[in-house]
Amino acid sequence: MDELHDAAAALAKARTVVVFTGAGMSAESGVPTFRDALTGLWARYDAQALATPQAFADDPDLVWGWYEWRRSLIERVHPNLGHEAVAAIEDRAPRTVVVTQNVDDLHERAGSRAPIHLHGSSFAPRCAGCSRPAPVTASREPEEGRRLAPPRCGDCGGLIRPGVVWFGEALPGDALEAAVQAATECDVLLTIGTSGLVHPAAEIPVVAARFGATVIQVNPQPTPLDEVAAISLHGTAATVLPALVAAAWPTP
Ligand code: APR
Repeated sequence: MDELHDAAAALAKARTVVVFTGAGMSAESGVPTFRDALTGLWARYDAQALATPQAFADDPDLVWGWYEWRRSLIERVHPNLGHEAVAAIEDRAPRTVVVTQNVDDLHERAGSRAPIHLHGSSFAPRCAGCSRPAPVTASREPEEGRRLAPPRCGDCGGLIRPGVVWFGEALPGDALEAAVQAATECDVLLTIGTSGLVHPAAEIPVVAARFGATVIQVNPQPTPLDEVAAISLHGTAATVLPALVAAAWPTP
């Protein structure tokens, strides 16, 4: 428990906190991660056939149907106690910047005000041709693996694509810039539920450590980010984060 105490002490005195999250943040809400053995999406699906621009060009119905299924799953689940603890940090720390690799809206639904989405959002489809934002169509309960023809752009007639960043694509420049800026300025960076394997997002905790921040990792498993974490709390988001917040800001 000393590590939790040390992490809480660092969090309580931090002026600026960056909360950096990955798929493990939403695991306890029922959203599958990508690389967990057996349950991870990339253990069950071929990322190259679903999460690249070429995949969409080759088979738009397969890709659109899969992302519509994932979005319908997100719409059916709820934020977990970990998301709520992150929102509580935003209420208590003088300044908090939430940076997420996740494309769900669970941070927002838990009360986080303006998370930076490094990998886009399931709720921001856009035209693959002219990039015009497209409306989120009410999901008709798409089944896992069912093909669905993507809608067409009202402007140019191009195919509508998921608003997520695929492998081989650049991250949104403004999001990455804001995340790096926050990492250089923070006193504490909490990295929660990420395998730390996908770059450039995985550089954010490294940048924070390089600029003198205390990096605290929350993950049941070891990750490459152990190298830069001053403290590693080996547990899940929904159990560790509420305890961390309670220890950092004890209620009278
Ligand atoms: N609480 C905290 N961490 C958890 C939990 C949990 N309940 N369950 C799993 N984890 C951890 C796993 O140990 C793993 O280290 O979450 C991490 C999930 O890793 P990934 O599945 O690789 O997800 P992530 O790091 O977000 O992937 C990064 O890869 O495919 C791309 O674009 C996709 O944004 C994603 C990126």
